Amino acid sequence: MLMLEGDAIADDNFAHIVQDIALLNSLGVRLVIVHGARPQIDQVLNVLNIKSQFHGDLRITDQPALNAVRAAIGIVKSDIEARLSIGLPNTPMHGARIRVVSGNFVTAKPKGVIDGIDFQHTGEVRRIDRRAIGQQLDQGNIVLLSSCGYSPSGEMFNLAAEDVATQAAISLMAEKLILMGEDEGLPASANASKVSDSKVSDSKVSDSEIISQITSDELSQLIPSLSGEHKMHAQSSLTAVKAGINRAHLLSHKVDGALLQELFTHEGAGTLITAGDYEQLRQANIEDVGGILELLTPLEEQGILVRRSRELLETEISRFNVIERDGMIIACAALYPSSTELAELACVAVSSEYRSGQRGDRLLNALSAQAKAENINKIFVLTTRTAHWFMERGFSEADISALPKERQSLYNFQRNSKIFIKELN
Ligand SMILES: CC(C)(COP(=O)(O)OP(=O)(O)OC[C@H]1O[C@@H](n2cnc3c(N)ncnc32)[C@H](O)[C@@H]1OP(=O)(O)O)[C@@H](O)C(=O)NCCC(=O)NCCS
Repeated sequence: MLMLEGDAIADDNFAHIVQDIALLNSLGVRLVIVHGARPQIDQVLNVLNIKSQFHGDLRITDQPALNAVRAAIGIVKSDIEARLSIGLPNTPMHGARIRVVSGNFVTAKPKGVIDGIDFQHTGEVRRIDRRAIGQQLDQGNIVLLSSCGYSPSGEMFNLAAEDVATQAAISLMAEKLILMGEDEGLPASANASKVSDSKVSDSKVSDSEIISQITSDELSQLIPSLSGEHKMHAQSSLTAVKAGINRAHLLSHKVDGALLQELFTHEGAGTLITAGDYEQLRQANIEDVGGILELLTPLEEQGILVRRSRELLETEISRFNVIERDGMIIACAALYPSSTELAELACVAVSSEYRSGQRGDRLLNALSAQAKAENINKIFVLTTRTAHWFMERGFSEADISALPKERQSLYNFQRNSKIFIKELN
């Protein structure tokens, strides 16, 4: 489920978004696109010299405004259909044929009278025709939904595109809800005040200072401090994720390749919202030593990790982050600052029953964010059997001379570990 704000269609980058949509369609991804038309509605109202009434953020759609909505949505919808019909010359998707289908898939109801104000033709989603949309997707068609719907009495209602996208995602039990707006995601600054000093937040901060991943529980704490588009998109994502959609993504329609980067790379290009879960990523404390030992011992016995005694772990426990699930430590990783700008990542381990669930990624991202917060701009790791895992996450092989002198003198030549370094900026 992909929502594009009305601004996206007017943006220069829309041509690239169309290519990405074509690629996803050719890969067999089932796509429903919901488009908004806010700026286009404003333009039509301007041309008609009609002043729109608002109550709070919400437009009151009276009959003249509804005519403007109808005209604007018609323009945007036909514009998208036309753009998706271009044969994509001079692109790898040359000759791709995209079929787009739209129709009366959204049933709407009036928003009604709130605080004594009658919102008239401003409405809400009442029902989504899941079966009809499903049939179109089964045939490989892209379904295009507009920010409007019709009531069983035959009236048209102006809807928020976010509402249509969220309700359609829930009704179709979509794999993902992707909301594309002006900004790249939620700003990390919004999260800063929420992160307590004693605890490493579960949310991740990307290089461009946006929150790259956040759980629904953290997001609900953050929402009161957000405003405008951030708030609207965050609210929709929360509703969707709480209703069982696995993932919601907030991306910018201005960034070339954002859609593919978010879907197909570890770093992503925006903010990913996942269901709040019963797993907690947090800084370790002395009570966790037993759990960490249980996790590390088998790996030490296999020679994958260097042995650490209980006493050493106790002294170094504050360097560890752990993932706890149902009271058990199922993953850990530690960060040892090695010089003012370099830190060593160590003891990265995920319990064998819980591997391939991106827990290694979550730990790596949390510790990278922590390192950056301490002005450390490079992290390194010594590994014998996990080289590719680190390489796939942006680490490059380095020589022993890249390590600080004290660390070089501790290097175990018999163990012959490979050294990998990652620049954090
Ligand atoms: C490496 C490790 C921490 C990854 O944790 P995880 O939560 O399973 O990792 P993610 O879910 O983020 O990533 C899973 C991917 O890593 C790959 N992977 C796992 N171990 C790997 C290895 N040794 N080499 C290369 N890739 C590896 C998986 O195949 C999977 O790839 P896929 O998604 O393409 O199938 C975990 O496998 C582990 O604890 N290994 C043993 C300890 C270890 O080697 N630690 C590093 C010491 S320096």
